[in-house]
Amino acid sequence: MATKLASSSNSILLQNPNRKPNSIFNTAAVPHFSAKIKPFSIRCAATSTTPVTPIQAQTPDTDGRVFNFAAGPATLPAHVIKKAQGELYDWHGSGMSVMEMSHRGKEFLSIIQKAESDLRALLNIPEDYAVLFLQGGATTQFAAIPLNLCERDDSVDYLVTGSWGDKAFKEAQKFCKPKVIWSGKSEKYTKIPSFHGLEQSPDAKYLHICANETIHGVEFKDYPTPKNGLLIADMSSNFCSKPVDVTKFGLIYAGAQKNVGPSGVTIVIVRKDLIGNAQGITPVMLDYKIHADNNSLYNTPPCFCIYMCGLVFEDLLAQGGLEEVEKKNKKKADLLYNAIDESNGFFRCPVEKSVRSLMNVPFTLEKSDLETEFIKEAAKEKMVALKGHRSVGGMRASIYNAMPLAGVEQLVAFMKDFQARHA
Ligand SMILES: Cc1ncc(COP(=O)(O)O)c(C=O)c1O
Repeated sequence: MATKLASSSNSILLQNPNRKPNSIFNTAAVPHFSAKIKPFSIRCAATSTTPVTPIQAQTPDTDGRVFNFAAGPATLPAHVIKKAQGELYDWHGSGMSVMEMSHRGKEFLSIIQKAESDLRALLNIPEDYAVLFLQGGATTQFAAIPLNLCERDDSVDYLVTGSWGDKAFKEAQKFCKPKVIWSGKSEKYTKIPSFHGLEQSPDAKYLHICANETIHGVEFKDYPTPKNGLLIADMSSNFCSKPVDVTKFGLIYAGAQKNVGPSGVTIVIVRKDLIGNAQGITPVMLDYKIHADNNSLYNTPPCFCIYMCGLVFEDLLAQGGLEEVEKKNKKKADLLYNAIDESNGFFRCPVEKSVRSLMNVPFTLEKSDLETEFIKEAAKEKMVALKGHRSVGGMRASIYNAMPLAGVEQLVAFMKDFQARHA
């Protein structure tokens, strides 16, 4: 947000010269805020001269930083972190850090409102969907979803393509009657089934999928059509990595800490007509209606995390939106998968080619005793967190939006060099 400070010496009006009509201050753009938020002034002791610069889409400055291939919390765009650093002490001349602001103050309201409107623009989220900024991680949603969307005796379907889908299914058992209609466990979670043969329960309230299995590197490239029209997706590890037709889903949820921000905030996008039917036992913090009615401000939200997500959303828009982001992600993933596939079996990726994740690339070495050495040597070259998840072993390179192409190029060059020395 390029916000210009104007007006008199002790009263400033926040203005944004660059925003088009869907400006954060055009409250009509975000209807559920419109009743409450008006253009506002902030009183300051003196005229602020804090420069406020927009985030430029730029080549990330990797100077002094490692290439961090961690699965989450994960790498964030270097220039976004620097922007946050520049605003850390005094946000936009308010005389406060975002960490110190009241979540009910005008400054923070403008931050959360802009984060929401930018996310809506990025994913083209229709007005009949609510966007919620919640806490408790995606894991909490494993319980919140059945609690909000069904009764104790309702049946629901789970398509289990990895550990996260399995965890979601197990948690749902406490609150409804879930059924696993397909599991990839026996094939070590390397596949996604054909949708034609799926035997969905006729009365299932919803069909749950994990759109990208972070540990196993399996990603849905298309989505099944649920029998009753309600598809629910955990998009924690591919959120905002590509365009998504939100209208295909009843609910999408994602922990922020992979693609869009720090850990601490979970984003839920839910069709509004599904809200308001939570089971009686639902804790207040898990009830979507409470959060929707209060614009995610029922209690103290994770303010700084929401602010950071907002900066990332702004950056993704500046890059040209999710079509552009997807192109970059495909280029990086192709580079890495090709290096694996062209290594004559020295490196191997177990995942079926058609469903390989653009975000998380698991791979092993034919000579598995060299894996520790590979990870150690890579770390010396400033490529860190390449160890595979403890449940599957081997290596895993998480190449989220913020991983620069240069990071993947360096990894591929290192892999070739390692192979030349050890083949
Ligand atoms: C796909 C997926 N779902 C759910 C989770 C759990 O998220 P959280 O740790 O935010 O509860 C993770 C965490 O890595 C994940 O990758």
